[in-house]
Amino acid sequence: MQSLHSSWNNKRTRLPPPIHLLGLALLLLPSLPSPTSSCTKQEKVSLLRFLEGLSQDSGLTASWRNDTNCCMWKGIICDADDAVKEISLASMSLEGRISSASLGNLTSMLSLNLSCNSLSGDLPEELLLSRSMVVFDVSFNNLNGDLHKLPSTTGRPMQVINISSNRFAGQIPSTTLESMENLVAINMSNNSFTGKIPSTICAKNHSFHIPVGLGSCSALRVLKAGHNKLTGTLPDELYNATSLEHLSFPNNRLQGALSPEYIVKSNNLVILDLAENELTGEIPANIGQLNRLEELHLETIILRGNSFHGELNNVNFSTLSDLKILDFMLNKFTGTVPESLYFCSNLIALRLSSNNFHGQFSPRLGNLKSLKFLSLTNNSFTNITNALQVLKSSWNLTTLLIGTNFKGEAMPEDETIDGYQNLQVLSIADCSLSGKIPHWLSKVKKLRELLLSNNQLTGPIPALTNYCPKLLNLGNNKFSGVIPMEIGHLKGLAALNLSFNNLHGEVPQSNCNLTNLRVLELSNNHLTGEIPAALENLHFLSFFF
Ligand SMILES: *[C@@H]1O[C@H](CO)[C@@H](O)[C@H](O)[C@H]1NC(C)=O
Ligand SMILES: *[C@@H]1O[C@H](CO)[C@@H](O)[C@H](O)[C@H]1NC(C)=O
Ligand SMILES: *[C@@H]1O[C@H](CO)[C@@H](O)[C@H](O)[C@H]1NC(C)=O
Ligand SMILES: *[C@@H]1O[C@H](CO)[C@@H](O)[C@H](O)[C@H]1NC(C)=O
Ligand SMILES: *[C@@H]1O[C@H](CO)[C@@H](O)[C@H](O)[C@H]1NC(C)=O
Ligand SMILES: *[C@@H]1O[C@H](CO)[C@@H](O)[C@H](O)[C@H]1NC(C)=O
Ligand SMILES: *[C@@H]1O[C@H](CO)[C@@H](O)[C@H](O)[C@H]1NC(C)=O
Ligand SMILES: *[C@@H]1O[C@H](CO)[C@@H](O)[C@H](O)[C@H]1NC(C)=O
Ligand SMILES: *[C@@H]1O[C@H](CO)[C@@H](O)[C@H](O)[C@H]1NC(C)=O
Ligand SMILES: *[C@@H]1O[C@H](CO)[C@@H](O)[C@H](O)[C@H]1NC(C)=O
Ligand SMILES: *[C@@H]1O[C@H](CO)[C@@H](O)[C@H](O)[C@H]1NC(C)=O
Ligand SMILES: *[C@@H]1O[C@H](CO)[C@@H](O)[C@H](O)[C@H]1NC(C)=O
Repeated sequence: MQSLHSSWNNKRTRLPPPIHLLGLALLLLPSLPSPTSSCTKQEKVSLLRFLEGLSQDSGLTASWRNDTNCCMWKGIICDADDAVKEISLASMSLEGRISSASLGNLTSMLSLNLSCNSLSGDLPEELLLSRSMVVFDVSFNNLNGDLHKLPSTTGRPMQVINISSNRFAGQIPSTTLESMENLVAINMSNNSFTGKIPSTICAKNHSFHIPVGLGSCSALRVLKAGHNKLTGTLPDELYNATSLEHLSFPNNRLQGALSPEYIVKSNNLVILDLAENELTGEIPANIGQLNRLEELHLETIILRGNSFHGELNNVNFSTLSDLKILDFMLNKFTGTVPESLYFCSNLIALRLSSNNFHGQFSPRLGNLKSLKFLSLTNNSFTNITNALQVLKSSWNLTTLLIGTNFKGEAMPEDETIDGYQNLQVLSIADCSLSGKIPHWLSKVKKLRELLLSNNQLTGPIPALTNYCPKLLNLGNNKFSGVIPMEIGHLKGLAALNLSFNNLHGEVPQSNCNLTNLRVLELSNNHLTGEIPAALENLHFLSFFF
């Protein structure tokens, strides 16, 4: 994205100085009549026509007056020649339609931003086909229609198109997009586009090979079309779009495998997000193999929620030194976690949950010093003692989710476990662990959520006064004894689940001090006595006894 911004900024700096400076100069010399001191009548007519189409203009009418220079109107920016160059009306609560033959007639307009309004109806085609527009953003509206009918164009300067989060349907308007040689970013996510990703959308521009449809993505850096209904495979031609930095198609119905060719060539790729599709096959072993002279910049790989399978050990992750986020959750990977992954020392978030990995945690996991989020839930890892020892020195770790592993093992009573200074969320739920709540947990001062439900933990519930959690789930264990009085000290507690244990005695009156409590589950114990009156008044108490 860095280079996207710089290229756009470079473009801007070549433009004349902004009009408000000029406008100020003219104000200081009011007696000098200037034939160029106003936008044209034609521009006013176009803008007023747009205004007419709005059913809710949020007071624009007061500013957009026919008898004033439209360069002074709210949201309008003119160039040095007093021609409208920019319309900036994002987040104005505008409603209604974008009238045709209105904004499309502004022949000097470089940038149109109508994002985050409630505009509906079709997108007038002359807007996307504008001969001047460079940046076009109508994201977050209710626009609809089928853009596929748009014709092919030539010589359009368009660089940035954001039509995301609308209700556009039909196929991706490939003919139009292909013909825009200057595109740097296309964001089409969160619409209802159907059909295949057009194969020509990013055909490489070989000087010796002019692809059908003139498609040339030599400049395209961002391509986002997530949250649509796209089908088919990732087109091979996409693999040649070597300028791509951000490729994002999550939540569609894409099928097929990742071509090995692809990863090798995408040496500019920073973000690859193909989550929640129907992709299969193995991760190409050459994911990190590169031309010796090139670096791989991949920072984010999200392949969550597909059907990828096979052993990741075939992949050498060690060349992906920039990797910050790796999300392989909900696939069918098997084998052990590859040791090469621990060379990715910049990893901040690693999620391998809901696969079929096995083995013990590698001591090298502790090498990931930047790791903040680690989820390995729902695999077949073993040795909880080792797991907790390995991770204790991960100082930056704030979230650790390792439940649904370690089936039937014993919770270590190992007092040499210390560390976890920054841990806020810990889940070791659903492991059928025996043993007690370990004492070292009381030293984890920042813990806000502790989930140990669905184990076989026994013994009394510790006073917990040092734990300070917001969410405490100890449900479905074998805890015995009484609910400790001190639980009332946990003023911040929002949810407490002690159900399905062997607790007896009365619900302590001190529980009434839990003024932030919203969920309290105490069912299926042997508790006696009355519900403390104050608890009955807790409005958000969702479940009791
Ligand atoms: C704006 O004013 C001009 C005269 O200055 C007039 O001809 C035109 O009809 C007006 N347009 C609108 C939309 O009121
Ligand atoms: C806008 O331009 C079209 C032709 O490009 C023309 O037919 C139409 O009258 C113009 N609209 C206005 C409001 O000037
Ligand atoms: C449009 O405006 C919104 C709100 O100010 C902003 O977040 C967005 O980046 C703008 N779009 C472009 C393409 O600059
Ligand atoms: C629309 O996408 C463009 C290009 O990626 C981006 O610059 C802009 O900020 C986005 N607009 C919003 C409102 O997020
Ligand atoms: C694309 O649009 C989505 C909203 O629909 C937004 O969250 C995202 O930031 C946009 N991406 C870029 C790169 O602008
Ligand atoms: C998708 O778009 C709708 C409006 O069309 C919006 O309400 C919703 O927040 C968007 N979702 C995302 C993930 O951007
Ligand atoms: C291919 O790229 C070159 C230089 O980047 C450019 O001059 C040429 O017009 C492009 N050809 C096509 C078909 O886009
Ligand atoms: C991709 O580029 C290579 C040359 O680098 C070329 O041989 C191949 O045909 C291209 N593939 C596609 C699908 O365009
Ligand atoms: C992985 O790649 C690194 C760097 O290229 C290399 O040193 C190492 O030997 C490779 N490991 C394997 C198992 O191939
Ligand atoms: C935490 O992560 C940062 C980088 O995000 C790193 O500079 C720092 O050394 C890490 N802290 C520890 C104690 O490892
Ligand atoms: C489990 O891990 C601990 C600590 O690393 C180690 O001492 C023990 O031998 C391991 N147990 C098994 C069965 O490998
Ligand atoms: C509950 O609150 C009362 C008054 O706020 C205080 O005196 C009492 O010590 C608290 N009890 C517990 C167990 O925290």
